[in-house]
Amino acid sequence: MKEFDQINPPPRLLMGPGPINADPRVLRAMSAQLVGQYDPSMTAYMNEVMSLYRKVFMTQNKATILVDGTSRAGIEAVLVSVLNPGDKVLVPVFGRFGHLLCEIAQRAGAEICTIYAEWGEVFEPGQIEDAIKQHQPKLLACVHGDTSTTVMQPMEELGAICRRHGVLFYSDVTASIGGNDFKTDAWGLDAVSAGLQKCLGGPSGSAPVTLSESFVEEVQKRHHVEAGIKDAHHYEGAGSRIRSNYFDIPMLLDYWGEERLNHHTEATTMLYGARECARILLQEGLEKNIQRHKLNGDAMLAGIQGMNLKIFGDLRYKMNNVVGVYIPDGVDGEAVRTALLQDFGIEIGTSFGPLRGKIWRIGTMGYNARKDAVLVTLAALENVLRRAGHSLPAGEAVDSALRVYSTGT
Ligand SMILES: Cc1ncc(COP(=O)(O)O)c(C=O)c1O
Repeated sequence: MKEFDQINPPPRLLMGPGPINADPRVLRAMSAQLVGQYDPSMTAYMNEVMSLYRKVFMTQNKATILVDGTSRAGIEAVLVSVLNPGDKVLVPVFGRFGHLLCEIAQRAGAEICTIYAEWGEVFEPGQIEDAIKQHQPKLLACVHGDTSTTVMQPMEELGAICRRHGVLFYSDVTASIGGNDFKTDAWGLDAVSAGLQKCLGGPSGSAPVTLSESFVEEVQKRHHVEAGIKDAHHYEGAGSRIRSNYFDIPMLLDYWGEERLNHHTEATTMLYGARECARILLQEGLEKNIQRHKLNGDAMLAGIQGMNLKIFGDLRYKMNNVVGVYIPDGVDGEAVRTALLQDFGIEIGTSFGPLRGKIWRIGTMGYNARKDAVLVTLAALENVLRRAGHSLPAGEAVDSALRVYSTGT
């Protein structure tokens, strides 16, 4: 049998739309030894995780937990738990991840109502309210920042709209949380799910989720306890059985709650990582962290514009942490990405769907929202483009970014 070498990945600077290089402190936390699932130290860490993520999400929600799996595990847990077969969900789609919400809700047996915006644009609150009036859904499910298009749906007014019409409000904030303003309680959200691999500076594999009391009350109607661990005091909800065991939120809440009722074996190493992501972020300060993403995102944007490259999407709604860049005419976008990777060890992102082959996506997030990472990426991109025969003003990429850093705005 062939012997394989020890895992030793090449050094890379990950400047795409995520994943990014994990903060070394997160990797160190993840190398800590395991403890038993009900060891007092482990249950204490679980409680700390709940408390840390309440601050990250800006919420008082007691039900703030991790779902094991990548970001879509959090999405799936929320949707499959709250949507009974036949329930209506409204999804405003403005990029790939809106389509993902539809796909997951449809598999849960829900009836999907959609409105669409051009990729690169977002919705007026009035458009969403009109669709709510028309379809009268149980749930509004909306991505906050859609990584595929780099833009972010304003959400400040949507919670009040949902309240007026008796609709629950859920958002996927995987791409935006930690690097852009997001306020669960102040904006009236009932369910929010995230991932670690963008502005939180960790690897993918754990999905922090927060749920309002109204949301919990709704899903508890489907409460169920597995045979083999069920005692006389456990109750069965009158609602239909949630179609996934792994993503059954009432079961997850029983496991994260006082009773610590057995469910899955918690992914301890991911929990260590998720805890460290939130701890680092809050140590820096949520507001400062967002400002750091804004500064580095602005510097990257200025550098790209300094090269006279055209930016994709409505800049008023751009996420701080990612920029879409039109691939110039006559330039082979994939050849540029390959040269960046092979010559400089830098990865930038490609695109999906209608944007495939048209734009690159360049991220400045989490551990990589740093001046040196931004400047090195701009210098490398300028070099690769020049060698590809594209004419641009020499030195302007880095100089334009440096001007942003020198004014700090
Ligand atoms: C906004 C958004 N939602 C969901 C996902 C899916 O996340 P995962 O690949 O971690 O399941 C991503 C991944 O890029 C994302 O950007």
